[in-house]
Amino acid sequence: MSSDATNDAGFPARLPCIHTSRLLLRPFTHTDWQGLRRLDEDADVQRYRWGNDISEGQTREWVERACVLEGDPARTTFPFAVVLRASGDLAGACGLTLTNVSFREAEAWYELRRDLWGGGYTTEAVRALLQFGFAGMGLHRVWAACHPDNVGSRRVMEKCGMTYEGRLRENFLTGGVWRDSLIYAILSREWPPPQNSVP
Ligand SMILES: CC(C)(COP(=O)(O)OP(=O)(O)OC[C@H]1O[C@@H](n2cnc3c(N)ncnc32)[C@H](O)[C@@H]1OP(=O)(O)O)[C@@H](O)C(=O)NCCC(=O)NCCS
Repeated sequence: MSSDATNDAGFPARLPCIHTSRLLLRPFTHTDWQGLRRLDEDADVQRYRWGNDISEGQTREWVERACVLEGDPARTTFPFAVVLRASGDLAGACGLTLTNVSFREAEAWYELRRDLWGGGYTTEAVRALLQFGFAGMGLHRVWAACHPDNVGSRRVMEKCGMTYEGRLRENFLTGGVWRDSLIYAILSREWPPPQNSVP
């Protein structure tokens, strides 16, 4: 039987709060939908993600689902609100979604407010996310996918020590268009990457 803290597979039912030098990664709360709206209604942020309009109702529903997950031992997704420590404002979101429980594999995902791009925030958040995935969840492999033109996302993955594994052809339908995805991954034995190995 599962304990409160973890499920049978040893994955945590509740997310920790993780502090980095500039960010706090924490579970979503009900009022976070307002901050997340800023990302969901920004076409630049969504271009390489869903590529279509996200309604206020969808944003609210997404945040509610994230809140309901807290404490659920059967959860398969682990979404963090990314908050600026200096102001307490929501900067973005990142998370891990289990893609193979038996093999302890998860997909990492992330997005950041447009006005904060290029400041190293997502790299900082994803490094903390990977640390949680390997040390806190005992994952074996974490992978992530991005649009081939999404240079910023590719750089985030490279700077977090992930290895390019290949290109999936037309595996994603966004804005009515089929698109390819680039796949990057990192294994538990490769974490943390040596400082000098990161490009
Ligand atoms: C992709 C994204 C997460 C990058 O976030 P970020 O906080 O700006 O990334 P960082 O500042 O940590 O930058 C990482 C690297 O990418 C580079 N970079 C970031 N955005 C870039 C862009 N648009 N074009 C080229 N390089 C970019 C940075 O310069 C940095 O490289 P460097 O250290 O060699 O200079 C952000 O642009 C975003 O939220 N985009 C929309 C959502 C999205 O695409 N999510 C990923 C889905 S796969």
